[in-house]
Amino acid sequence: MTLNPTTVTVDTGCVVADLDPRVFGGLLEHMGRCVYEGIYDLSSPHADEFGCRRDVLEALGALEMTAMRYPGGNFVSGYDWRDGIGPAERRPVKVERAWRCLESNQFGTDEFLALCERMNWTPMMAVNLGTGTAQDAQDLVAYCTASTRTKFGDLRASHGRETPYEVDLWCLGNEMDGSWQIGHTTVDEYTKRARDAAAAMREVRPGIEVVACGSSDPNLRSYPAWDRAVMGGFGDGLDLLSVHRYARNWHRRTDRYVAFGVLVDRQIEQLARVSRDVARREGYPRAPRLSFDEYNVWYRTQLSVLPRRFIPRGRLRHAPHILEEVFDLQDALVVAGFLNSFVRHADVVRVANLAQVANVIAPIITRGDDLLLQSTYDVFRMFSSRKNGEALEVDVAGPTYDLRWTGTVPFLDVSAVHGDGQLHVHAVNRSQVHSAPVQIQVAGATVAGVREAEVVTGAHPGVRNTWDQPDAVRARPLAGVTVSDATAEALLPPLSVSSISFEVGSGRGRLATTQPPRATT
Ligand code: AHR
Repeated sequence: MTLNPTTVTVDTGCVVADLDPRVFGGLLEHMGRCVYEGIYDLSSPHADEFGCRRDVLEALGALEMTAMRYPGGNFVSGYDWRDGIGPAERRPVKVERAWRCLESNQFGTDEFLALCERMNWTPMMAVNLGTGTAQDAQDLVAYCTASTRTKFGDLRASHGRETPYEVDLWCLGNEMDGSWQIGHTTVDEYTKRARDAAAAMREVRPGIEVVACGSSDPNLRSYPAWDRAVMGGFGDGLDLLSVHRYARNWHRRTDRYVAFGVLVDRQIEQLARVSRDVARREGYPRAPRLSFDEYNVWYRTQLSVLPRRFIPRGRLRHAPHILEEVFDLQDALVVAGFLNSFVRHADVVRVANLAQVANVIAPIITRGDDLLLQSTYDVFRMFSSRKNGEALEVDVAGPTYDLRWTGTVPFLDVSAVHGDGQLHVHAVNRSQVHSAPVQIQVAGATVAGVREAEVVTGAHPGVRNTWDQPDAVRARPLAGVTVSDATAEALLPPLSVSSISFEVGSGRGRLATTQPPRATT
């Protein structure tokens, strides 16, 4: 069974913007088993000389993540960065208030920044504006980036790191609009804290980019007034506004759930309008852009993190098993929907962070010495490995369906990137039963052939990778992609995410075909 054909038109001359590589970042939070038992585990046979799990880092390396946000998340709003530096045996074990557990502080700023260098991640550090002060924020910037013969540069050197780290992207707190946040406050008070902190931080390192907290969820009553007030009150030194969004499938309705990207598009477009409007009204030379620095699927394990006052006061644990969401195929489509939306809005979204990277709502799960890649893993990799270049406008003409929730939804959700002599097209087929024939028409370049085509799909929306069947939802080659001059054709399976890379150039096209298509439903 197939849908009516969809025509996707892209023109290499119709550029949205250069695609900022930082859009393919992650969040490494001190939460649950993300840091401990996730990337860092001295007791693991996989531990390298730094105590990091080689198997986890290898899997993360293949995701080619860019900006790595650290140390939170909610965690940062009660964190004293001084607890996590210096000789490990002298670091205090503390009660961690955001997630009500114990924090050993064995992994801290130096461990994180050294890991960033080894992994080629761009560090994106958050400062504590819950219980922390502008002075604490300035001192942290100095500890990371000042040269020796300064108080904090010498302190860092005494811990074994003489050369300053390069840390140029800083988050001014986390979700300060949320009542659950330690130090939650009014928008005016938060904006003042953020402005003061940024000024103090820039005294030490003038060129840093700063990200202020926007709304942590567009369903909050304060959205988007909070965002408007933060951007208006901060002044023209704000580079990015933080945006968060978690997708939920409470209704267990796949047709509705896989349309989530429509809401992401709306949220980005609305915040971009607010930002442009504030900039025009306030006379800023440029409008703040968006840092979508937490996004993912998160609902099955949400009850385990009820507001702190509801969490039973039992024995506090170190690295508790919390938010260990098991992702299925439809979750993978939703993550692809976020990524498609970020690419299409490349002019506005300049940073994005998959929350989180290991164990906690993550693409990678550890169990003892073993490791499992979740359904979202390959989807992220397929996008991230195709990020060099410019995002193109895409014109999609094809079948749609209607939902009361979102309005009209195209069955195919598409984005395109052009660079390094290649054109990459990502397409989600939201239909649960129909394959989708697609014709991709390319203007402005000749399509010389198919370089690679991969697809993530499965027999039903709930199929997932398990310890017994770890490869149930993994990327496979997408067969049957044909190319003739400037037109390509493919048949996309139901409930699938496909990424197709074409060789493009200015010369005459040639006919190229991958293997014949497999039978589809
Ligand atoms: O990613 C999990 C949590 O979700 C983060 O700590 C917080 O910022 C958000 O509410």
